[in-house]
Amino acid sequence: MKKILFVASEAVPFIKTGGLADVVGSLPKCFDKRYYDVRIMIPKYLCIKQEWRDKLTYVDHFYMDYLGESRYVGILTYVLDGITYYFIDNESYFNGPKPYGDWLYDLEKFSFFCNAALSALPVIGFQPDVVHCHDWQTGLIPVYLKDRFRGGEFFRNMKSVITIHNLKFQGVWDVKTIQRLTGLSDYYFAPDKLEAYKDGNLLKGGIVFADAITTVSDTYAEEIKMPFYGEGLDGLMRARSNSLRGIVNGIDYQEFNPATDPLIAQNYDARTFRKEKIKNKRALQAELGLEQDDRKMMIGIVSRLTDQKGLDLIQCVMDDICSDNIQLVVLGTGEERYENMFRYYDWKYHGKVSANIYYSEAVSHKIYAACDAFLMPSLFEPCGLSQLMALRYGTVPIVRETGGLKDTVQPYNEFEGTGTGFSFANYNAHEMLGTIRYAEHIYYDKKREWNKIIDRAMAKDYSWNASALKYQELYDWLIGY
Ligand code: ADP
Ligand code: GLC
Repeated sequence: MKKILFVASEAVPFIKTGGLADVVGSLPKCFDKRYYDVRIMIPKYLCIKQEWRDKLTYVDHFYMDYLGESRYVGILTYVLDGITYYFIDNESYFNGPKPYGDWLYDLEKFSFFCNAALSALPVIGFQPDVVHCHDWQTGLIPVYLKDRFRGGEFFRNMKSVITIHNLKFQGVWDVKTIQRLTGLSDYYFAPDKLEAYKDGNLLKGGIVFADAITTVSDTYAEEIKMPFYGEGLDGLMRARSNSLRGIVNGIDYQEFNPATDPLIAQNYDARTFRKEKIKNKRALQAELGLEQDDRKMMIGIVSRLTDQKGLDLIQCVMDDICSDNIQLVVLGTGEERYENMFRYYDWKYHGKVSANIYYSEAVSHKIYAACDAFLMPSLFEPCGLSQLMALRYGTVPIVRETGGLKDTVQPYNEFEGTGTGFSFANYNAHEMLGTIRYAEHIYYDKKREWNKIIDRAMAKDYSWNASALKYQELYDWLIGY
């Protein structure tokens, strides 16, 4: 049995701020259980819902020296869908209303977490062959495995993988602070190790010291070797390109299934969507106070409201979009300027635009089911899960050709009768507008063609099946058998 440990800062259903949680919580279920024992370790945040916290059982605790003090590390566990989760408990670090908050404190919190996660393994008696780390919060683990945890027998052959879900966030502060928080020696603070542009950089540590690096789509794996997408680390990505590969994300096909989804008004599938999907639109129009009109093209957005997501393009041509014969439904939270922008247009075009500035799993499912099209014009997108959810629900994605969006949405070609969505290349608001209008034209004037796009979209398989095999191959290669 090969033993794998996922270490991450979030995982569904316990705690989620973005797609990282979806991946960490759904991928482990998809490995071949006869050969792989995959477990997950995350912090036990105070903001995990009480109903989950009540279910966790205590395993053990110990005290760990960190920053000159002896600190409590509790370990709790829970088995969900056959997968063992471990939770690292320390209420002074993992408190607060959200997993992340103050930058500097987050650095300390996750440095503590990396130390605690590795220290907990001998205590629980789980000796993974591979520790699979995710994003900057766990970037220290590959470094520690080659440093302070290397000595003993227990850790000697442990391999590490780091998956980059978003290169923009790196865990950066001045060298002195990072050195203090990590306890690493001077040796590590050189430009070929944790130092980048004179600062300390935790993600860089992970990328330099991990035995393998993955990111969440082929295109993003190529893009980050270039300055525009490389976030200052493109040189490093080129240098490590032999150890870097893109493995596209999947989604949980059980949870995201229009045929059985209990959160939507009307279930449907690839055979029945022509008749049944519309009932979801009707229900959502009623729920959100939009004009009741079956024929109106409804465009959805479900997103963190940050500049990554291309919201500047939308802002630039919002009046043009709203002057068309469409409805726009937005669900998201994030930067205030974008939240207010959508609130303003909701006021200005009431009945036509619905801005829902909050987080809701249920409303997100309703949007994926109800809309005709789904807009995601990202500036960059390592993979993107929302467009996969849209495809699964027969909601036609309109995307910019970057990262995983490029790899998972094939542009409609009316001459060949191919494609699962609409896309444009440049980060240009009018190029986006032109593409939205082309989609409107197909929707209104060539409905049979539109429905065939949905046929092809719903026939695609973006479950984890294929990608889980690729991770298995990678683990096998690392373990060496
Ligand atoms: P990212 O991880 O960059 O935020 P992804 O497309 O990979 O982007 O994943 C986003 C996930 O978060 C999807 O599951 C999406 O449905 C969900 N999501 C984003 N905003 C909200 C919200 N306000 N309410 C509910 N779900 C949301
Ligand atoms: C990040 C990326 C997103 C990706 C997700 C899961 O949040 O922004 O594109 O889908 O991680 O890998």
